[in-house]
Amino acid sequence: MEEELLRLQKEACRDLAALQDLKDLEPFRVQYLGRKSEFTGLMRKLGQVAAEERPRLGKLANDIKVDLEERFATRKTELEEAARLEASGISTVDLTLPGRTFPIGRLHPVTQVMEEICAIFEGMGFGVAEGPDVETDFYNFEALNIPKHHPARDMHDTFYINESLLLRTHTSPMQARIMENRQPPLRMIAPGKVYRCDSDITHTPMFHQVEGFLVDRKVSFADLRGVLGVFIARMFDERTAMRARPSFFPFTEPSAEIDIACVICRGKGCRVCKQTGWLEILGAGMIDPEVFKQVGYDPEEYSGFAFGLGVERIAMLKYGINDIRLYYENDLRFLSQF
Ligand code: FA5
Repeated sequence: MEEELLRLQKEACRDLAALQDLKDLEPFRVQYLGRKSEFTGLMRKLGQVAAEERPRLGKLANDIKVDLEERFATRKTELEEAARLEASGISTVDLTLPGRTFPIGRLHPVTQVMEEICAIFEGMGFGVAEGPDVETDFYNFEALNIPKHHPARDMHDTFYINESLLLRTHTSPMQARIMENRQPPLRMIAPGKVYRCDSDITHTPMFHQVEGFLVDRKVSFADLRGVLGVFIARMFDERTAMRARPSFFPFTEPSAEIDIACVICRGKGCRVCKQTGWLEILGAGMIDPEVFKQVGYDPEEYSGFAFGLGVERIAMLKYGINDIRLYYENDLRFLSQF
């Protein structure tokens, strides 16, 4: 009996909430509260239940009846009010209700840092260009003075698609793509995804680079240092020291790797900088005359510098992140901090 009473109450509440029209009220009342309703039938059977159970079930049945009658009255008032408003042409939208809030997403930390990097270089007059992720062997290597079988190709751990197509291993092909279509003076950056068959706490198979280069008459290594100095001061802070270490890239001569004083220990030596006090952030150099010849520029007339920085690396330093793979695990506890 108790189960049936509760079931009836549940069904009645559900049907009442679904009522949309005044004319449906009476059938509802007859079905659930009328003299021939299932509920009234149950009330009548109360006389047959064991005497010790009767008072409790009697009270329950009565409470449910009172509850349903109250709900019925409330719903009736609501529907009458809605009908009245509709008849009078007044809107039933309640303008005083607070608006619905939707969870708002945010930009991935790598995208945020990428945008920050681009904004700094745009502020120095660099234009922005994007190129294809699926690149030809020619632009990724040959045009950058890395012929077939050159040992420098081994450093790139390339994902090949076929003999002549690959996933670009760096953004440097954009140097050749832009230069062959435009004449100096040129000041460009090219942000984008790059791919290498590589994975550990400082390397992921897909990562982001921003390529930058400037070509004009009488461009010198001092100009490169000046531009990168401004970038580092704006990205980190004015006090961040930088140094250039000799390095090798087939498409720049001379080449350098640029380090900044460790942002964690300020150059004193710690675990992050492996006690050296310095952290590498990018590769750079003066554009090799061979690259100029490929794109038809006269190396006697023009000179230029180029650099390529790893965006994840910069973001790790900026936010003190110690494992690059965190960026790509899609863990909201990590991502929502930025
Ligand atoms: C280059 O890719 C050169 N194209 C850079 C360059 C451009 C030099 C123009 C001269 C002139 P490198 O292989 O060192 O250089 O990569 C540049 C940066 O990419 C590194 O400093 C590092 O921050 C980042 N990087 C390299 N491999 C990975 C990887 N697997 N995962 C994440 N970041 C990486």
